[in-house]
Amino acid sequence: MKGDEALRRVATALADARAIVVLTGAGMSAASGVPTFRGAGGLWRTFRAEDLATPAAFARDPALVWEWYDWRRQQIAACAPNAGHEVLARWSAARDAMRVITQNVDGLHERAGTRHVRRLHGSIWRLRCVRGCPAGGSREELEVPLAPLPPRCECGAVLRPDVVWFGESLDPAVLDAAVHDAQRADVFLTVGTSSQVYPAAGLVPLAHAAGALVVEINPEPAASADAVDVRLTMGADQALVALDDLLRQNHAR
Ligand code: APR
Repeated sequence: MKGDEALRRVATALADARAIVVLTGAGMSAASGVPTFRGAGGLWRTFRAEDLATPAAFARDPALVWEWYDWRRQQIAACAPNAGHEVLARWSAARDAMRVITQNVDGLHERAGTRHVRRLHGSIWRLRCVRGCPAGGSREELEVPLAPLPPRCECGAVLRPDVVWFGESLDPAVLDAAVHDAQRADVFLTVGTSSQVYPAAGLVPLAHAAGALVVEINPEPAASADAVDVRLTMGADQALVALDDLLRQNHAR
């Protein structure tokens, strides 16, 4: 299917859909200037995300892991939601049954004003005490850069970023809600994710098996061909703006 034809097919499905569900990954924020994890610029010093975003890495060297998070927090603080985030925010305002499930911890969907965001991997802006004490329970900390590193709770223990690390479980309530969303989607968009990290990646075949039209938006196709009905091989911002334009044109007719 040619690019324009594919965009028109998706726009028609979106216009007819009751439940639109969007799964986003790091590529969603690429046009905002936030580096992806597995693309160029994803390495920090010589470390991959998989080397640093683990409970073992944090136990070994909390200051090192925090330096990486502090670097990412500073980068994200300097970024703004892009045109793709804005489109999703507008759709979420106009459609009660729309849901955004994100693997991103950057908070850019929320900053764009999107309603009903399910944060599968937590938030880089929240900190919590490793001892789980009430004083440092889970609080928002927007200051950048953080000093000294690692930050400490009032109880003296180390605070950690309130994100889900490799080897850790997702919040079961958030995951259940996302599974439910995927199963009732009429159109499921998977946007800017390499589809390598589970359980998030499993939502795509789940939505497909449940009958959704599954659309992948990614300049480099990533999800399994068995689970994707339409591929839009474009940047997230570009594709979402093009779809939004087509929806408005249809509406104006
Ligand atoms: N628009 C859309 N997609 C893009 C763009 C863009 N402008 N630029 C890059 N991409 C795509 C890449 O082709 C890649 O498939 O975004 C994807 C980013 O993949 P990853 O870096 O692996 O990010 P993600 O899939 O979100 O990673 C999942 O892994 O490290 C953990 O917890 C972290 O949430 C993260 C999870």
